[in-house]
Amino acid sequence: VLPAGEYADASVDLSEAEGLGALAVTSVPSAPIDGQKPGTSGLRKPTKTFMKDPYLHNFVQSTFDALKGTGTDVTQGTLLIGGDGRYFNDKAIQIIIKIAAANGVTRMWVGQDGLLSTPAASAVIRERGPESQKAFGCFILTASHNPGGPDEDFGIKYNCENGGPAPEKLTNLIYENTRTISSYKSCEAFPEVDVKAIGATEVKAAGGARSVTVDVVSATDEHVGLLKTIFDFSAIKALLAREDFSLLYDSMHGVQGPYAKAVFVDELGADPSCLSNATPKDDFGGGHADPNLTYAKDLVKAMGLTNKGAKDPESEGKKVPSFGAAADGDADRNMILGDRFFVTPSDSVAIIAAQANCIPYFKSKGGLKGVARSMPTSGALDLVAKKMNINFFETPTGWKFFGNLMDSKELGGQDFSPFICGEESFGTGSDHVREKDGMWAVLAWLSILADFNKDPAQKLVTVEDIVRQHWATYGRNYYTRYDYEGVSAESANKMMDHMRSHFADWTGAEMDGFSIAKADEFEYKDPVDGSIASRQGIRILMSDGSRVVFRLSGTGSVGATIRMYIEKYEKDADKLDQVPSEALSGLVALGLKLSQLRELTGRENPTVIT
Ligand code: G6P
Ligand code: ZN
Repeated sequence: VLPAGEYADASVDLSEAEGLGALAVTSVPSAPIDGQKPGTSGLRKPTKTFMKDPYLHNFVQSTFDALKGTGTDVTQGTLLIGGDGRYFNDKAIQIIIKIAAANGVTRMWVGQDGLLSTPAASAVIRERGPESQKAFGCFILTASHNPGGPDEDFGIKYNCENGGPAPEKLTNLIYENTRTISSYKSCEAFPEVDVKAIGATEVKAAGGARSVTVDVVSATDEHVGLLKTIFDFSAIKALLAREDFSLLYDSMHGVQGPYAKAVFVDELGADPSCLSNATPKDDFGGGHADPNLTYAKDLVKAMGLTNKGAKDPESEGKKVPSFGAAADGDADRNMILGDRFFVTPSDSVAIIAAQANCIPYFKSKGGLKGVARSMPTSGALDLVAKKMNINFFETPTGWKFFGNLMDSKELGGQDFSPFICGEESFGTGSDHVREKDGMWAVLAWLSILADFNKDPAQKLVTVEDIVRQHWATYGRNYYTRYDYEGVSAESANKMMDHMRSHFADWTGAEMDGFSIAKADEFEYKDPVDGSIASRQGIRILMSDGSRVVFRLSGTGSVGATIRMYIEKYEKDADKLDQVPSEALSGLVALGLKLSQLRELTGRENPTVIT
């Protein structure tokens, strides 16, 4: 251990005296490690990769260096730390605390038990503390819906003071730093923080010149408090109290369990039996904590559905819950189900937007002003925006692209708030935080249901009734997504290049009964800061509005995942009740043919269909 002064930056102003004791700063020699480039949502790699020192240390130090480079003073305000509870969450938190203290951070908040859901982290950053203590940022330890455990995945992402994921200019800087790093700083003698008990630990330098406070805070208070200001909890309570209404919420052993208990049991008075898999586990119970028809198996079965979203013949004559929902590992995703009925995420965001006035947050602000969806998400939301005559945006995949739109006013642009956005990948949310929010989506649906079911004497209006009514008004966007996981990066890129080379011949061509209006690659110019994101997905657009879209996932940890998104719009009242796989089969075949996916990757069938 060397004297602190030697490694301190001027801005940190560490006196030499404090070089002794728990705040002594050690500079540990290190070297760049390949592949630390954050993807769609942070850095995700096998847990074993993260556990090999100094993998995590390098990334965290590179983040601090990037923050310094962009003018963030980490000695002021608070650093928030928490995660989805997956394996290595606890150890990673202690490592980050030591590195943060050595980089000049003076105050940290850690979610109790080391837990923080992604939306709750965003809420704590935005809501907690007096101005002088407000969080300047947060490390969220999560690989979202990727499985957890020693042989699965771990992840880390940094969120900024607006509560949203670091913008690309920051993540690029972090990545550059990981490629040149030669040492990281750490207060190696910093005592292990007990994250079980709420309360503060103050660690003083031996000389008394500096102190660092680590405060273990409630993981749920800010988020639940914020949700209570958005929704009418008493109206939802009345819905839950109806004899003919029942609810089943599956936390999939991710971080949502404590939040689900706080909201449904403590606030809304529901019986705890409505919660399943509500104890966070470090391997998510061995499951794949991703709320979709394939992975949320138990919930899907309990709701009387097959894994294709059709009515399960075995459920015939049985009573199933009126409303079912699930969350992913870090609780930002959601799946909404009714009695034997699946709501696609693309429909879900469109319906919430159309019914936004059922929610006090929107109504009190004079109604919804802006909506956005990611490019591969279906056009159902576009139709609602058009009818409501409000601002509409189509962004690349990745929640971070919504952040600038939500902050537009603060960034000197137009005010699009209140704002709703969503993605086909089971993410829905609003500008109450800067992340998608699984609990928000569920409470939004319950608010809509509560509004349709105010009269307890009237027959229950179901989730299915509401969706069908929406289709009757706007038409139906049939939608499906095929995922091919674990494809070699080389063949996936070859397939994308193959399509790129054919844009010109396909545009205007007639093929297998489809007329292709245009084939291109999506590029996005951020309307707020003018930044450009290119190569954001290949689109084959038909003249009747149908689409086939191809992207390579940015969230995997090994190899490549190809996503093929298929959409067909139907306005004809007689054609609103088709089986989606049948309505879409022609487009699927065309997509496979044009991309030569099977030939170029050797993959006959998708790994998952959502
Ligand atoms: C994360 C992001 C989303 C994104 C999803 C799928 O959940 O927050 O914004 O839609 O990943 O991304 P991918 O690149 O795997 O398709
Ligand atoms: Zn997630």
